[in-house]
Amino acid sequence: MAPSRALAWEKTIMRDDALFVARCARGLEPQLATEILQRELGSITAIGHRTVHFRAWRPYDTGVTGLRTADDVFLLGAKGRDIGGRRPSLPELADLVRKAAPERLLHHRTTLVPQATGDVPGVEVSASFLGRRNFNRYDAEDAVGNELAAQLKVPYHPRRTGGAPPPDYAPWRLTLDGTRATLLLRITPRPLHRRPYKQSTVPGSLHPPLAAAMTRLADIGPGHTVLDPCCGAGTLLIEAALAHPEAARYQGYDIDPTALAAARANRTTASLARIRLHRADAGRIPLPDATVDRIVCNPPWGTQVEPKARLAKTPTACWQELSRLLTPQGIAVLLLPTPTPLSPAIEAGLLPTHTQRIHLAGSPRYVVKLERPG
Ligand SMILES: C[S@@+](CC[C@H](N)C(=O)[O-])C[C@H]1O[C@@H](n2cnc3c(N)ncnc32)[C@H](O)[C@@H]1O
Repeated sequence: MAPSRALAWEKTIMRDDALFVARCARGLEPQLATEILQRELGSITAIGHRTVHFRAWRPYDTGVTGLRTADDVFLLGAKGRDIGGRRPSLPELADLVRKAAPERLLHHRTTLVPQATGDVPGVEVSASFLGRRNFNRYDAEDAVGNELAAQLKVPYHPRRTGGAPPPDYAPWRLTLDGTRATLLLRITPRPLHRRPYKQSTVPGSLHPPLAAAMTRLADIGPGHTVLDPCCGAGTLLIEAALAHPEAARYQGYDIDPTALAAARANRTTASLARIRLHRADAGRIPLPDATVDRIVCNPPWGTQVEPKARLAKTPTACWQELSRLLTPQGIAVLLLPTPTPLSPAIEAGLLPTHTQRIHLAGSPRYVVKLERPG
């Protein structure tokens, strides 16, 4: 933004408008908070269930839409008390809308997203809540949506009809967590986790913000050779290559030609021709010993995807191969189902130095970092 325009906005944006809420997969909150701080976007004001609240240092900083470990980022409209489980309390949600001053928030959004305008043609609301209620999410959405529509003098698109809202309708979000009701305005037209490059997927394909969090943990640096021996649709390598263009080589292998075709299509959309993709068995990768600096992978452990070839015959083959390929200072970051015994990794010479439990679509998983004992 031009300095004069930025200055004008600094004068008109009230202090509370600089409050943002980023949402993420459960368990990734610390990584998201770290990313916000490392990108110098603002100071963290609260960390909650799947959310990180932060106050932006520069309210018009478009960097907030570049967060890689977030599923989505919102402007905080208003916080109030959770209305509880009783249907007669639903009208109280209109107070939240009045407190949020929706017009002012929509104007702030235009400073963050070039294609957004303050004059929106309509509004839509997506609600979620924890705990039992004797109303459903559509009832809560309607209570908020009708009040937003009245205040902004535009139509409201109810989700209960099943149709997708028009793409240019302002996307509001309501959460009721048992203690608080929170009204948010999504900044970007599409959720951040929907990456433009991800046109093709395969079963077990990774959620891109989780892939981004795993690649951050891998500590990729200049000149590194980075490998995914079971690359599927290529999510981990693409996230790594976008965040770390300084690495020397990105190599992906998969046994399944369909997975490789998906990875090639996504690689093309992401304009990352430097990622090399080949067919191979992860139990015998055609690379010399101790030549890989970083491995990122969610191997097929039979939860969503069955292991094939050597990995099916000898499950420990994966650990032995990772150990053979890694340099002495090498690091591997894997996503594993729970519980996965790590004794075969330790026997193969890889020491787990960090484990982290996360939840994906309600299922627990472990992100595990492995290094060579020093
Ligand atoms: C969970 S998926 C990986 C998903 C990937 N990270 C993504 O985001 O799309 C596991 C992959 O392992 C592959 N696979 C199964 N057995 C293999 C083997 N022996 N060698 C190499 N790849 C194998 C499957 O074809 C599948 O694409």
